[in-house]
Amino acid sequence: MNSDIKDIKLAAAGKKRIEWAERDMPVLAVARTRFEKEQPFRNMKMSLCLHVTAETANLARTLKAGGADVLLCASNPLSTQDDVAASLVHDYGIRVYAKRGEGREEFFSHIRAAIEHHPQITMDDGADLISTIHNEYPAQLKELWGSLEETTTGVIRLRAMEKDGALRIPVMAVNDAKTKNLFDNRYGTGQSTLDGIIRATDALIAGKNFVIAGYGWCGRGLALRARGMSAQVIVTEVDPIKALEAAMDGFRVMPMVEAARIGDIFCTVTGNINVLTKEHFRLMKDGAVVSNSGHFDVEVNVKELAAIAGSARKDVRGFVDEYVVAGENGEARIYLLAEGRLVNLAAAEGHPASVMDMSFSTQALAAEWVVKNRESLSPRVYDVAPEIEINVASLKLQSMGLGIDTLTEEQVAYLASWRHGT
Ligand code: ADE
Repeated sequence: MNSDIKDIKLAAAGKKRIEWAERDMPVLAVARTRFEKEQPFRNMKMSLCLHVTAETANLARTLKAGGADVLLCASNPLSTQDDVAASLVHDYGIRVYAKRGEGREEFFSHIRAAIEHHPQITMDDGADLISTIHNEYPAQLKELWGSLEETTTGVIRLRAMEKDGALRIPVMAVNDAKTKNLFDNRYGTGQSTLDGIIRATDALIAGKNFVIAGYGWCGRGLALRARGMSAQVIVTEVDPIKALEAAMDGFRVMPMVEAARIGDIFCTVTGNINVLTKEHFRLMKDGAVVSNSGHFDVEVNVKELAAIAGSARKDVRGFVDEYVVAGENGEARIYLLAEGRLVNLAAAEGHPASVMDMSFSTQALAAEWVVKNRESLSPRVYDVAPEIEINVASLKLQSMGLGIDTLTEEQVAYLASWRHGT
């Protein structure tokens, strides 16, 4: 089977990892069992450009169980779990093009392999696959029934394409589903980012000034978890409403130029470029730790950090590079984690399976929805259908052993009526 992975001999370790994640993905298991029977993806090809993790492996298995011929490539050069990639090829018959640490050229050659699979459905985490098809393989657009997007940054890119009239296929904004962003972005990013920072540095979080750039769902989750570990949390924002929310949630809010002087640990989760630049590095304290958990490695300006540090840079520990910068207050050592790439997937294992269960069930069911409704879809960005969200949330509650109440007929009538007043 054609694939490009690090080492097939890692398969046994990868299989254990996939099975361990599977225990915590009960909603996806329900979808898999139904797909096995109903075969919604029979005779179809799917290309997935996602983080190659144990959780993604369980999604790929689920789509394959539904009849699809699935090919997986990496959505980030540093997040691939090579043992999982090996197991997918060896144990599950799924083609994988991904190697941890792959260079830019290899990364795009893997994306091209995913395109040359000639899929009807694609899944992206960051829109690289779909934008490469639009830019370099426009003739293939007519073969595509639709695409699904997993992350905030990808949805932003796709909405920009839609606005420009450049989008040529229907796309599902899976990221924008509540069953995705309220849980994965908040609890997943919150926990896995701290996990990545701690695994990389072994730092004590308690008592540290922990600076978070961005108060979207990821920032909110990270702030919550950092406070839970007794950090002094500082939030920086550009949006007055989010800044106000952070303040009323009890966090300190200030511009980055002020936070830069007092922060011990920095993490960017904005989805934007150049959030931390040389202007800020020059103000930082000796020993400051700098990281990013946004999708692309553009939030921390690593080039500027390297330029002001000159040759004074060394690899001091796995995922930690030391840069010595001549700062405002003398020489300061700045520790950059995972080269400014998403620290939760590079230095840790990404979000826990239990939360990816919801994101990937939403993905799988939304893919089925696209296939079923393909004749009536047009080239635009769609929200996930509410019935899919309710299904995923209900199954998750059930798997957690939690019951909820049901509206009485009287309550339904009351909510539908405008005649009741004070
Ligand atoms: N994104 C964040 N965490 C992830 C994980 N564990 N698997 C796939 N994609 C992810």
